[in-house]
Amino acid sequence: MLTEEEIKEITTELVHAERKEAASIEALMVVQKRRGWVSDESIRDIASLLDVTPDELDGVATFFNHIYRKPVGRHVIALCDSMVCWSLGYDPLLDLLRKKLGVGFGETTQDNRFTLLPAACLGACDRAPAMLVDEELHGPVTPEMVDGILQKYK
Ligand code: FES
Repeated sequence: MLTEEEIKEITTELVHAERKEAASIEALMVVQKRRGWVSDESIRDIASLLDVTPDELDGVATFFNHIYRKPVGRHVIALCDSMVCWSLGYDPLLDLLRKKLGVGFGETTQDNRFTLLPAACLGACDRAPAMLVDEELHGPVTPEMVDGILQKYK
């Protein structure tokens, strides 16, 4: 069930939207910001507030890379797996992250510190290979930089 605060915040977003469904991403982000991810139950509750079907809202959530439909760790690493990054060092970077974290894409470290996810082009091709950790963009990332970057996130 959505909390009163979540409903209030989503309702505020609705005031600024031309149509209720236009506020879908913002509404999903309201819940994710507080809970870390968006459960099926939350999808149903938000959908009812927006007058859309849960399937429609789930479609939006699935399409938008930054909405998490499963629990994630304290920090999310989104490694760009698009063309420019592929050609400028993606493979060794992914290998190293897998080795250091002991997880693959879609998995969370045992200490719940990091979740590793693939991401479509981050819009930072001039900084390839690039990755986001939470909201912070890193790039170009060399294997030598990985330890220093990971250490910033506890
Ligand atoms: Fe990686 Fe654009 S291809 S940031």
